[in-house]
Amino acid sequence: MTINNPAEYWNPLWQSGRRYRSLGPEERQLTGRFLGVAHGRPALDVGSGDGTLARYLHADLGYRTTAIDCSSAALEIAQAEQTTSDGPVFRHLDIETGDISALPNAGYAVVTCRLVFAFIKDKAAFLDRIRRFLPPGGTFWVVTPLAERLPEERKSIGITPQEAELLTAPWSSARSEDLDVLRCYALRP
Ligand SMILES: C[S@@+](CC[C@H](N)C(=O)[O-])C[C@H]1O[C@@H](n2cnc3c(N)ncnc32)[C@H](O)[C@@H]1O
Repeated sequence: MTINNPAEYWNPLWQSGRRYRSLGPEERQLTGRFLGVAHGRPALDVGSGDGTLARYLHADLGYRTTAIDCSSAALEIAQAEQTTSDGPVFRHLDIETGDISALPNAGYAVVTCRLVFAFIKDKAAFLDRIRRFLPPGGTFWVVTPLAERLPEERKSIGITPQEAELLTAPWSSARSEDLDVLRCYALRP
């Protein structure tokens, strides 16, 4: 799906009460298995929405998590749902067009991207940007629906086999697990 102005697209959806798939026990277990316990290492959650995954990374897995989203409406919800002073740090940033040098860390042990990759306009440029954040041994964790598993009217929120190829090609290691319509990728530089 091509979205020209992501903030203009996502803000009204969040404001209208639209919410996305919650992080169920199976996905939590899978995420924990691939990303492990962090002991305070830094993580970056890209397109964090209401903070569903960012909070899990921070509170359960122990990552010092920065969460970015281009939608101010999503970030307002994420902040409102933050019940502790020790939670992820939420930042307003478009990962495709924003100034990534403004982020607190130059590198992250883990970068995550859940239910976002299908909506990225220039996927190759996006992957180049993400790679710059990941030192050897780091992990890019991507959770995305596969278009082929979705009904016709929802295919645009999933990735095609060609996009899956583009996603996995630039990494030295690409592992994946399936979770119903989702595929979860652990990609390493
Ligand atoms: C379907 S929601 C998923 C939210 C969250 N990751 C989750 O798992 O619930 C997609 C999110 O990605 C954000 N997003 C889309 N394109 C973005 C971009 N270029 N930069 C930053 N965030 C983006 C949207 O604002 C939206 O909050």
